[in-house]
Amino acid sequence: MITAIKKTFAEAKDFMPINGTDYVELYVSNSKQAAHYYKTAFGFQSIAYAGLETGVTDRESYVVGQDKIRLVLTSPLHSGSDIGKHIDDHGDGVKVVALWVDDATYAYDTAIARGAKSFMVPRVESDEFGHVVRSGIYTYGEVVHIFVERKEYRGSFLPGYQPWKTEYNPGSVGLKYVDHMVGNVALGDMDKFVKFYQDVMGFAQILSFDDKEISTEYTALMSKVMSNGDGKIKFPINEPAEGLKKSQVDEYLEFYEGAGVQHVAVATDNIIETVRQMRSRGVEFLHIPTNYYDELEDRVGKIDEDIDSLRELGILVDRDEEGYLLQIFTKTVNPRPTMFFEIIQRKGARSFGKGNFKALFEAIEREQELRGTL
Ligand code: FE2
Repeated sequence: MITAIKKTFAEAKDFMPINGTDYVELYVSNSKQAAHYYKTAFGFQSIAYAGLETGVTDRESYVVGQDKIRLVLTSPLHSGSDIGKHIDDHGDGVKVVALWVDDATYAYDTAIARGAKSFMVPRVESDEFGHVVRSGIYTYGEVVHIFVERKEYRGSFLPGYQPWKTEYNPGSVGLKYVDHMVGNVALGDMDKFVKFYQDVMGFAQILSFDDKEISTEYTALMSKVMSNGDGKIKFPINEPAEGLKKSQVDEYLEFYEGAGVQHVAVATDNIIETVRQMRSRGVEFLHIPTNYYDELEDRVGKIDEDIDSLRELGILVDRDEEGYLLQIFTKTVNPRPTMFFEIIQRKGARSFGKGNFKALFEAIEREQELRGTL
């Protein structure tokens, strides 16, 4: 059972107020094509661009957005760069989870005083639209949190970027905001990063799952969910557990060559419509056997959605004390079997779909089997 379902948001210390996720930056081998993919398949809109044309000589970045979600897709322009090394080591993946704060200097000073490792000292960046202050600290693996203070800025994204004007503007699929982002860390490291989020950022642990709850016949993992005070920022942290075969977290760690972001969960108000759109635009989702739906309402009670549509699309449902949620997982989006996306619609539930873990992990195992990595 869930061992800490208690609503412990109140435990989060408010010494580091965070307004939300500011942006997620991925280092990718081809930013131009990645931007096209996220626009076409995921319904993101063109927002901003930085590169040779804007005076940036070492990298090219495309910023795409959908409602409150912003992705930055960055590639190096020359060999021998930190970005290129990151891509060589990890494949495409998340480098920055940026957090929107009122005071990026205070956030940095507080985090450093509480034991964080510095990535970027506070710096003011400005252009004709005003200025921002950014600072950064390391978290697990090579992932960093950048604090963004943008109350004095009116430009399209950040200084140095120009609005990205293009004639190719496919519509949104209804994605609204980042619900949570999950990190995979090495065996034995989960509690270290739980403590990091508690000590450095004042987060509270709101849930924990052990390997008896998150397991199938073959694979197991453990997870703890960290949250800031208002629940807007939620970072579950997974570590592998001993199983008969290799777990999905082990597979991730092996191919990512270290700890990193496993999935980004994005929220929608209409998961059936969103997933239908995404599938028609080429996004591939994990396959769920249709017998999952046979006794669905016996398990989760009455739901508003049409079960035939959920079955057709492979959308999962789970209920907790507060309501229910619908969720679905994409296949991994990179050549290496590492990162994927979750689409989630919450109808009262604040949990993470524990009732679906078995069906989900069996679906992942079928993919691992095909890759020969189970
Ligand atoms: Fe998730």
